[in-house]
Amino acid sequence: MSRISLNNHLYESGVSDELRHLINDISRAGKYIHNAIRTTDLGLAGSSNTFGEEQLKLDVLSNDIVKEELKESRLVCCYASEEESSEMTELLSDAPFTVVFDPLDGSSLLDCNLAIGSIFGIYESKGKLMGKTPRDQVAALYLVYGPRTILVYSTGKGVHAFYLNEVGEFTLLEKNLTMKDEVKTYAPGNLRAVVDTPSYRTMMNLWLDEGLTLRYSGGMVPDIHHMLIKGAGIFTNIGGSKYPKGKLRLLYECGPFAYIMEQAGGASSDGTKSVLDVEITDLDQRTPIITGAKKEVKRVSKVLNE
Ligand code: F6P
Ligand code: MN
Repeated sequence: MSRISLNNHLYESGVSDELRHLINDISRAGKYIHNAIRTTDLGLAGSSNTFGEEQLKLDVLSNDIVKEELKESRLVCCYASEEESSEMTELLSDAPFTVVFDPLDGSSLLDCNLAIGSIFGIYESKGKLMGKTPRDQVAALYLVYGPRTILVYSTGKGVHAFYLNEVGEFTLLEKNLTMKDEVKTYAPGNLRAVVDTPSYRTMMNLWLDEGLTLRYSGGMVPDIHHMLIKGAGIFTNIGGSKYPKGKLRLLYECGPFAYIMEQAGGASSDGTKSVLDVEITDLDQRTPIITGAKKEVKRVSKVLNE
């Protein structure tokens, strides 16, 4: 059996050298975040990294790690991060890529030792994202930090998963992750919205009556990763009075996952159209999202609009 590294997979898939280098650099940021999660002082007695100095919170540290790698790559014109969500920062004006990212999604799950993740979307436009849509992404990837660290990427040629091996290399785990038109599990986010969005309650009742299994951790990355690995399922995060457009952000969360899910043969919707076709009007904008198996995405959109 021969081992296939992320770099080699990108090379063999015909990804341009520049994009391959950038994805490798982002994957290196993922390794540092993986390490930071395991060594940062969580306030636990006996934790290893206590040298008396004040430590950065892990989400801030993860943000710094990604920024450092993007800068070092010399391939990134501009970036926008969920941690600094309302501004675009320029790194190198004539570099080819704009990167949007959520460095540590679900960081509130950290103290419970649940899985968390990092999410990235890559555009070619030189920092000009307004008026564009997530369909303009040239690649998207995420890392999930669970019992193992796994990286999943797409450059528009399928969706491929790699695990971080013992010597610190991302090695092919599964190529061409594919969504079947099957829904045994559901992951209903922002469920408090049923209070003032009755159609969401209707949908929830349908799932309960149909005997579906709940698979919801409260972390977008592991919750969608679950569906991609099983090749089935449905994930929602839709609006109610507290979050009129749902909790999740178009640029940093929904856009990259919509790209990956559609590449895997699944679908995404904001209730009326693909999330890939939602116009970017604000770096911080939120959008409802329904994503997973194609037919179910259609059915949920229909029920929510009734
Ligand atoms: O980004 C925030 C986040 O933690 C996502 O990872 C997750 O999908 C969502 O919030 C969960 O929202 P809720 O707790 O409202 O279901
Ligand atoms: Mn987030």
